[in-house]
Parts: sequence; structure tokens; C-alpha cells
Amino acid sequence: MKNKKQFRELLLKWNRKENKRTMPWKGEKDAYKVWLSEIILQQTRVEQGWDYYEKFIQHYPTITDLANAKDEAIFKLWEGLGYYSRCKNLLHTARMVNENYAGVFPREYDSILKLKGIGAYTASAIASFCFDLPYAVVDGNVLRVLSRYFGIDLPVDSTEGKHFFSRLAQECLDKSQPGEYNQSIMDFGATVCKPAPLCNQCPMKASCVAFNTGNVSVLPVKQKSIVKKERWFSYFIFSFDHKKFIQQRVAKDIWQNLHEFYLEETTVNPEWNIKKVSDWLQVHFGIKKTKGIYIIAAKKQILTHQFIHGYFIYAELITVPKKLQQTNGFWLTDDEIKLKAFPRFIHQFTQKKLMQAQVL
Ligand code: ADE
Repeated sequence: MKNKKQFRELLLKWNRKENKRTMPWKGEKDAYKVWLSEIILQQTRVEQGWDYYEKFIQHYPTITDLANAKDEAIFKLWEGLGYYSRCKNLLHTARMVNENYAGVFPREYDSILKLKGIGAYTASAIASFCFDLPYAVVDGNVLRVLSRYFGIDLPVDSTEGKHFFSRLAQECLDKSQPGEYNQSIMDFGATVCKPAPLCNQCPMKASCVAFNTGNVSVLPVKQKSIVKKERWFSYFIFSFDHKKFIQQRVAKDIWQNLHEFYLEETTVNPEWNIKKVSDWLQVHFGIKKTKGIYIIAAKKQILTHQFIHGYFIYAELITVPKKLQQTNGFWLTDDEIKLKAFPRFIHQFTQKKLMQAQVL
């Protein structure tokens, strides 16, 4: 195996000389801020997370401020980021640290790891950045850098691969400056050793096994590609008297507690057209006539393993049918709707920002 010391030194030299990446949380020592940034970045790109981080810090400068906030306010601030379990865990942990640790983030790795929403990666990031503890971060960026530099073709998602790469990551770590090392490898993976890598400007290529054996494009190796579940969400936007019908999602599913329009979910593509919608309205709600219907189809990958196909169907009603009156939900004006938290998918639709939308 190639020299780990050389790897570490080249990486840190690149960081000092060439790493131009600036981010508001970089060099931050306040564990609350580091934790917040890491939770935001768990499934979100840096460019997208940046503004959210700043908004949160501005509104809630300390963990106690966050702990004392209303759930609804935090959900609203989180709107658009997706993966809402992160947001729920954020509140849970803020309140837990506020109560059990007097608002001071714990300083030991094992205590940090016990907090809800914090896995090995986030715990290592907090422990190394804030408390100089020697824990190496391992995520997709790190696996890509290590598998290429050392030329390892063990599947990164196999049990053996996971153990191997965790050990390798830990052995490469600069234990005298773990925070700087961890930030360097994250940044290097994000800006140079990217999925489509910039080998021509890489200062490590002379000793990179993948580069020297022509294996950059096949590493890292993955055992299984993810099987995606497809779901069809048809949102009926019932409008009456300048108000729209809104429901809150209560089921233990994606987007729990968020708001949405009346939803009809199917496992196959309903292939809506005006005639089909009219028939459906008649069968389900006894609606014989409307002031107008129009249909917009959209699709979006919302989670790594779920793909949502959406239809947004406007139906302007002449009267509110009995069945809809008896359905849980409420009628809101557009201004009132703006105050509610919606899934990013719907939010983008209402803001007319859906990229893959098509009027039928
Ligand atoms: N992704 C997760 N944590 C990060 C960090 N601290 N800097 C850049 N990207 C990250």
C-alpha cells in the first residue's frame, strides 16, 4: 500500500496552497454552528445549504434560542431543504442539549454520537473541528479520494469495504490537526477528486494509483446501485371563493407534518387528461361541473431511493361537494398558504420553479 504519510502531507499542502473554498462555517469552533452546518449539509449541496445556515444563525444564534423556538417556525425556515427528519432531529437535539447539558454541546465523541440525527460522520466532523479530537470523517467524498489514491477496488458499500475504508481513513488522519485534515479531504473530494475528476490540476496524481493505472473512472466500486421506488402523486388544487383546500400530512411517511393539496396517490401512472379528471371528480366527489380544470405534470427525485411523479390538477369549483366538506383539511387564501410549510416539491410548483413541468 502506498504511503499514508505522503498522502496526508500532499493533501494538507494542497489545502494550504491551493484550496480556495470558502464557506461560512469553515474554521468555526462553536459546536452549535458546526453541528447546524453539518445537519444542513447531510443531504444538501453546499451552495443550497449556505443561505439556510445563515438564516438559522441569524434567527437562532445559540442552541438555546433554537430549543425555545416553535416547531412551526423551524419547519418554515427549513422549507425547501427536504429530508424533514433532519429538521425534526435538529429540534429534538437542540432541546435535549439545552435541558440535559445546560445548552453546552458535549465535548466527547461518544456523547456527541448519542445525539439524535448525528451519525459517525457528523460526530467526527464536530469532534475534530471543535474539540481537536482525532476522528476521521468518512463519506462519499472521502471514499472516492481514498479508493482512487490508494487504488482500492473493494466495494465501498460492502461490509468488508466499509471496515477497510474506515480503518484506512483513520490511519491517514493527521492526528495533530484532525479538523484541518478532515476539512481538507472534504474540500479536495468536492473540488478536485470529484466524480468527474480534474486530474490535470491534481497535485497528487504522481502518486495516485488510479491515475497511474488508468482506473480513475472505475473507482470507487459500488456493490449495488440503489433500487428506486416510484410513486405517483396527483394533487387536486380545489379552489373555491378565492381559497384553496389544504391538508396536513399526518402519516409516518415522507413529509410528515407538512402541508399539501388534496392528494390521490397511485402506484401506476394515472395518465390524466381533462376527460379522465372530469370522470374522477364525478365518481369521487359527485362534481358534475367545474369553472375550469387544468393539469400540469411534473417529476422529481425527492430521496435517493424514491422518485415522485406529480400531477397538479387545478379544479375551480362552483360549490364545495359534501364529501370534501367532510374531509380533514382547511380552506386558505394564497396569503395564508404562504405561511404554511410545504414540501419542496410543492413549494417549487407554487413558485413556478419546477424544472421538469409540462402543461397537459
Ligand atoms: N459537507 C459536509 N460537511 C462539510 C463541510 N464541513 N464542508 C464542506 N462540505 C461539507
